[in-house]
Amino acid sequence: MTADVVSSSAPGPTSTGPILVATDVEKSFGGVTAVSVDRFEVDRGSIVALIGPNGAGKTTFFNLLTGFERADRGSWVFEGADLAGSHAYQIAQRGMVRTFQTARVFPRLTVLDNVRLGAQSQRGERLTASVLPWRWKAQDAALATRARELATWAGLGEKVDDLAGTLSGGQRKLLELARAVMSAPTLLMLDEPMAGVNPALRQSLLDRISELPGEGITVLFVEHDMDVVSAISDRVVCMAEGRIIASGTASEVAADEAVIEAYLGGSSGDLRDMGDQAVRATPRDVPVGDEAVGEAGVVAAALQADHVETVDDELPAGRLHADDPTADDPADDGTATEGPAS
Ligand SMILES: Nc1ncnc2c1ncn2[C@@H]1O[C@H](COP(=O)(O)OP(=O)(O)O)[C@@H](O)[C@H]1O
Ligand SMILES: [Mg+2]
Repeated sequence: MTADVVSSSAPGPTSTGPILVATDVEKSFGGVTAVSVDRFEVDRGSIVALIGPNGAGKTTFFNLLTGFERADRGSWVFEGADLAGSHAYQIAQRGMVRTFQTARVFPRLTVLDNVRLGAQSQRGERLTASVLPWRWKAQDAALATRARELATWAGLGEKVDDLAGTLSGGQRKLLELARAVMSAPTLLMLDEPMAGVNPALRQSLLDRISELPGEGITVLFVEHDMDVVSAISDRVVCMAEGRIIASGTASEVAADEAVIEAYLGGSSGDLRDMGDQAVRATPRDVPVGDEAVGEAGVVAAALQADHVETVDDELPAGRLHADDPTADDPADDGTATEGPAS
């Protein structure tokens, strides 16, 4: 991968201060408080890890910030705009783009087309602006080239023409990463990017993620492996029972009494492997009628609906293909849930 593959989102002139500041964000399900965050900041150009035991509220916090779930209260200012109440597609259009704990792909499209769908118009033009055929054909070719580069960058170079539905759970995570980078985000939020990814690919995935800030992409990611967290994070934030209980360097947070207590008091008691396989996709209306919606916005909207397929990202031990670094478990195919007939 060369640096220019992920270029196109270099920091602009307003690039000072935190890129994201969330204040008093709350969400309850029934009587249970899933998220209650007083204050949360992400410094521009940094890599921030969000850790915490199962059920701590990490995924729900991601869902709230990115508009995939509605907060009961709170505000969060991203690039100077309060996004509370905004729709997922609007938030994605602004450059705050997330991936899912269990990857969501369009199974009947090729890997390349899945990546291409991440593209959003670079200068903020409406899709309808390029009505001249030679303009959109040239743009189409450029997008295809970039999508191919990003698929290769993510380790899926051999798979670009395969249907995404044939990929394993780990490969789908890589596909999601490529699609998210394709949308030229300024803040990329990765929910357990390593989960289900073949160990042989993890180091390269780590390297890919650590390259992103150099390309103007701030990273916020959920991860359970403290070695991974220590390797690439500038700052670590720990959640438990919906609240932020610690923040600092990886070693500070790992040594924090409240953090140790939170993990030991949890169901697993293991700070190194607290992955949550639960999927809570909430089907919603897909607002694709708005002509001002960029393609990434459409993807963000579509990803809220049932049009996508998820696969259990649990990787059975001892079933790895050492000779094919992109292959994890072929049994994954059998566990895929079917998308709607098209
Ligand atoms: N859609 C939902 N309905 C009901 N409870 C939910 C829903 N989503 C999350 N929760 C609850 O909110 C809490 C936080 O869950 P989650 O955000 O998935 O935690 P984490 O990602 O840190 O493991 C848990 O108690 C979970 O059961
Ligand atoms: Mg989670």
